[in-house]
Amino acid sequence: MASATSIAPTAAAKVARAAAGRRAPPAILVIFGGAGDLTKRLVVPALYNLVRAGRLPDGFSIVGVGFGDVDTQSWRHDLRQMIQSLAADGGGEFRADGIDEDTWDWLSRRMTFLTGDFTQPEIYNRLKAFLAEQSTKLGTGNVLFYLAVADKFFGAIIEHLGRAQLTRQTNGDWRRVIIEKPFGHDLASARALNAQILRILSEDQIYRIDHFLGKETVQNILVLRFANGIFEPLWNRDHVSHVQITAAETVGVESRGKFYDGTGALRDMVPNHLFQLLAMIAMEPPVSFNANDVRAKKTELFSAIHPISPDDAVRGQYAAGTVIGKPARAYRQEPNVAPASTTETYVALKLAIDNWRWARVPFYLRTGKYLAARTTEIAIHFRQAPYALFRETPVERLPRNILTLRLQPDEGLSVSFSAKRPGQDIEIDGVAMDFSYRDYFEPLTTVGYETLIYDCLIGDATLFQRADTVEAAWCAVQPVLDAWAARPAGDFPNYAAGSLGPDAADRLLGRDGYAWLPLGDAPQKRNSRG
Ligand code: BG6
Repeated sequence: MASATSIAPTAAAKVARAAAGRRAPPAILVIFGGAGDLTKRLVVPALYNLVRAGRLPDGFSIVGVGFGDVDTQSWRHDLRQMIQSLAADGGGEFRADGIDEDTWDWLSRRMTFLTGDFTQPEIYNRLKAFLAEQSTKLGTGNVLFYLAVADKFFGAIIEHLGRAQLTRQTNGDWRRVIIEKPFGHDLASARALNAQILRILSEDQIYRIDHFLGKETVQNILVLRFANGIFEPLWNRDHVSHVQITAAETVGVESRGKFYDGTGALRDMVPNHLFQLLAMIAMEPPVSFNANDVRAKKTELFSAIHPISPDDAVRGQYAAGTVIGKPARAYRQEPNVAPASTTETYVALKLAIDNWRWARVPFYLRTGKYLAARTTEIAIHFRQAPYALFRETPVERLPRNILTLRLQPDEGLSVSFSAKRPGQDIEIDGVAMDFSYRDYFEPLTTVGYETLIYDCLIGDATLFQRADTVEAAWCAVQPVLDAWAARPAGDFPNYAAGSLGPDAADRLLGRDGYAWLPLGDAPQKRNSRG
């Protein structure tokens, strides 16, 4: 233990030094939706952190494009206030040590706002002239367009960019586009959007974001699996009985009723975020970490998911309740939600993966709003040891080996196993070995978008979604979307805000002889038989 802690800081410092050395190439970042919430809360704070980490080049310029009563001065002012409040309260993962004036100055000097309607051609002519001027000044024609706008604008903006010839790559300069979530709202719309944008852009110009892939702990799953010799030999149907993937939230829909009521938990979380976790944990080892090798393995995995039967899908909607000590209203009472809404705020699924590694190993996924605890984790449940030696202990009371990857909060990993209680009798109890990131590494100052923006600037698409991967994911959940649309839920609301979710989700595992891990309990407690 002592040697592990003394090695860790040195390794972490090495990584930090190497990272600081690699600056992105000169480029112009154009943010559509420049005055919007996503830009304020995530994109610009991420840029600020990238400047602090020494990752952005001197030849860098940021152009905000959007509607409204905004100009360059007021834009800079608003963004500064946002950074200041994040830095003051340590919001998200921001460090609470105040705004760094030099960093902010570096960034704000490079910011310009173009006010205009991005659904009309006029703004694209102005943008083109501005980009030409900036290119001469910076000596680069590299442009990254960031679509931080509602999904209904994705296709139209790309068409306008194409018509204005802003997506053409000449003289070795690149043009790339980051597209936010949601990418389509079902298989047909995702296919149509892919077809529309692929008429204008080549696949390697498109960066479809899934912000879960920006999370350190999600990226670390690959390191855990493939940089360690001890896990991979166990990672298959011979040793794993089932896998549970949980993304439980303690927030409700907040101010997003309008978006959420037309979306629901399945579309909002499953084919994107939860499937990314599934891919990281279940895909075959890629031959390299090259973007296409990794994405090919993910696509292969999604294509191997057996069409999900509606009998293996549970939906729920929250009623009023108490969440972490605070009263919470029912979903149907939330602003901009239909009073008789049948939109689900909870979903649990059982997936079967038809390949040699995972045949007959069920994967259970669950996610929901207003649950008892906030936790995102993956639990690999291993097969029970032969128990002939412990005849006195009923098999169901022998603790199982579970490897739990905690992705947020309290990032870490635990392995639970059986140990003998000290004493004359052989009495078995469940114990856990626990690793927490914070015990080994300095926490990073990050909002989760830093890596994604940086990777896009250096042209590394590994953490972004390819067209076929997105479509394969929608394809897997489409039967459930169809079944639910044809038969709206009759029992909503069916779980209290602040609870563990609907009872039917327990039955989904219960019928296979399993149970969900309790939400948010310490690893030792989860595996204890007492
Ligand atoms: C978003 C969903 O993509 O992810 C939200 O639209 C959800 O509904 C959020 O709350 C969860 O992300 P995180 O990073 O807070 O776990």
